[in-house]
Amino acid sequence: PVPPAAAAQFSTPLNVAHRGASAYAPENTVAAFELAHEQGADMFELDVQETRDHRLVLMHDTTLARTTDAESVFPDRAPWRVGDLTLAEIRRLDAGSWFDAEYEGEPVPTLGEALRAMGESRLGLLLEIKAPRLYPGIEARVAAELRRHPSWLAPGRLAVQSFDWNSMRTFHRAMPQVAIGLLGTPAVAELPELARFADQINPPYRDVTPEYVGRVHRHGMEVFTWTVDDPAVMRRMTSYRVDGIITNRPDLMR
Ligand code: G3P
Ligand code: CA
Repeated sequence: PVPPAAAAQFSTPLNVAHRGASAYAPENTVAAFELAHEQGADMFELDVQETRDHRLVLMHDTTLARTTDAESVFPDRAPWRVGDLTLAEIRRLDAGSWFDAEYEGEPVPTLGEALRAMGESRLGLLLEIKAPRLYPGIEARVAAELRRHPSWLAPGRLAVQSFDWNSMRTFHRAMPQVAIGLLGTPAVAELPELARFADQINPPYRDVTPEYVGRVHRHGMEVFTWTVDDPAVMRRMTSYRVDGIITNRPDLMR
């Protein structure tokens, strides 16, 4: 544990709810985002993919099987890829029951619905574009949706991240005013080049050392680390001076 005198000199990292307050509510649903707000998160994270008819929906896996009832609603559509179903079809699915009966009927939200539902909150948003290679042109469609909801473009409120750094170069060209996060742990030698378009380096917490955080900071970027649900690791990451901690348990992080 960090002694209080030492802790006082550290800035507090942002509390980022991973797929919403996903330890307590079904991930990537408006219910999970609202709960994150109630639990005192600073930001929420979500995963965006595209339907067969090019509508933006929130889903972590590239198939619908784990977090919806797609297998029973569409038994002949295996393997239930997000990109194989239309929005109208996906809207028939229940994205809550798999988690708990309390959430029965919770829909798969579109990105626009989530932006509208949480727009009045004080929360920031960490928007992940998931598997962009499956959805050519998704960067421009995400940018267009964000332009329809300009309150999210307020300075400091939004960052867009991906494991696919080329996709982030594309998104940066489409919306240079939005902060860009790169998921993963680039080598220190890569940081100067990446800093030309990125604002955050977002590694798994096991990769994070105080030296690495210092190197990223020296290149003018921030570090948001994931997925941290253990209070001891939250304290350690705070002592390493990360800028954000992405957690399924925003209440604990608070
Ligand atoms: O925000 C970090 C985290 O979401 C990246 O991993 O698989 O949960 O999307 P994943
Ligand atoms: Ca994610």
